[in-house]
Amino acid sequence: MSFRVRKAVFPVAGQGTRFLPATKTVPKEMLPVVDRPLIQYAVDEAIEAGCDTLVFVTNRYKHAVADYFDKAYELEQALEKSGKTEMLALIRDVLPKHVRAVFVTQSEPLGLGHAVLCARPVIGDEPFAVLLPDDLIWNRHGKGALRQMTELAAENDAGVIAVQDVPREKTGSYGIVATDSFDGRAGRIRAMVEKPSPEQAPSTLAVVGRYLLPGRIFEFLDKLPPGKGGEIQLTDAIAALLDSSPILAYRFQGTRFDCGSRIGLVEATIRFALDHEDLNQAARMAMESALSELGVRDS
Ligand code: G1P
Repeated sequence: MSFRVRKAVFPVAGQGTRFLPATKTVPKEMLPVVDRPLIQYAVDEAIEAGCDTLVFVTNRYKHAVADYFDKAYELEQALEKSGKTEMLALIRDVLPKHVRAVFVTQSEPLGLGHAVLCARPVIGDEPFAVLLPDDLIWNRHGKGALRQMTELAAENDAGVIAVQDVPREKTGSYGIVATDSFDGRAGRIRAMVEKPSPEQAPSTLAVVGRYLLPGRIFEFLDKLPPGKGGEIQLTDAIAALLDSSPILAYRFQGTRFDCGSRIGLVEATIRFALDHEDLNQAARMAMESALSELGVRDS
């Protein structure tokens, strides 16, 4: 097995109910952080890591993600005619020329593991990445999280899963891993459980939405009974794989924003606005004036 990853899977079939009413018509992956939709951050991270085939697992109602990555012919013509080259570059750059997007449909919402299984015909049996766009990972001046992971996978010829430490009372929101040893930033995973209670969690090392997995995972996903919440869980398939394939847990460099929650999306927006080359000054002033205005009113 050689862990060279070229294909990335983006499960984007979820309903995004935490963001209703916005997500009544706009998929949560299309919600913006400053001026780019969430999905664009995950796509850029995958491309930086060397992926050239992006597989989006959508449902039959979600056309916005496919439309976003499609060529906007009329808009491009209009911008070209009026000489708006910077804007033209912005919409052309959503996907570089060497990258192709493939769309597969998840016909029933049977869970994350099932969504990944839907990508099997495109992935085949080669190693691949899974990125959950809700988890926005920002590494200001360094390599993206997935790039760090592909390098580790190639060095060790092993799968890699991104993890971070969470408070024990939060284990019920995550897949939790137990490792044999943790030397520096990585350790081989011995056990993995989906959303255990704080009392039952084998550790407080939580999985965040980046995985590098061998193609063999599909054999396990295919046979899996429903797990936590009655859903086919990716965590359960990985747990079944651990005896026969090494998978490393990796504490990535960077900050993760949980953009599946409203406060996470707000945090990411604040952080990116404060770091934005055109907006940073104005964003700082807006935040200071909002804080002093509310501070006066609340005290
Ligand atoms: C999924 C996974 C979970 C992981 C989490 C990371 O859960 O099932 O193991 O820790 O993503 O964001 P979800 O948040 O989709 O319920």
